[in-house]
Amino acid sequence: SRKSVLFKVVVLGESGVGKTSLLVRYVENKFTISTKSTIGSDFLSKEIDVEGRPVSLQIWDTAGQERFQGLGTSFYRGADAVIFVFDVTRKKTFDELSAWKKAFLIQIGQENNKEFPMIILANKVDLDDRQVSKRDIAEWANQNGDVHFYETSAKENVNVGKAFDEIAKLALAK
Ligand code: GTP
Repeated sequence: SRKSVLFKVVVLGESGVGKTSLLVRYVENKFTISTKSTIGSDFLSKEIDVEGRPVSLQIWDTAGQERFQGLGTSFYRGADAVIFVFDVTRKKTFDELSAWKKAFLIQIGQENNKEFPMIILANKVDLDDRQVSKRDIAEWANQNGDVHFYETSAKENVNVGKAFDEIAKLALAK
């Protein structure tokens, strides 16, 4: 069998948007209502196949509260791709996307790289009290170099696999 290529993917966004839930849904196909807030950072791995190529995704999860202050440099060092998550029922988490993006790219010294592999996840689309429309997201994506976005639900398993497959594809194409 061919040796797999390893990609480090980091998941970022405000506290409570569902980062851990999306990761656990993707890697373990589970969902629990009460996940504890993430302390520090940790990663899960998943072996996948991208267009016939074996890929090992090492996906790093962190606490949204900390932005970057509390995080060790080991969290973002060597990242090949990034996933930004917000919660469609809390507009404030969407409004913070630009700050997350900017802070991350500066941290890894890629602030002038318009091609760094990234996607946006608009999570919790299963809920009724939505505050951010698809149009709002499309506009932000358009203003940010046509970054791809997915409307997801970790709870109901909507678009989760698709989104992670896309980030693997983007990392592979880089
Ligand atoms: P921090 O670790 O604090 O940064 O939070 P997080 O972004 O990892 O969020 P977490 O996965 O802990 O989810 C926060 C809450 O939202 C939990 O109660 C989850 O069950 C819930 N949640 C996550 N994803 C979804 C979703 O797609 N739909 C619904 N309805 N609830 C979700």
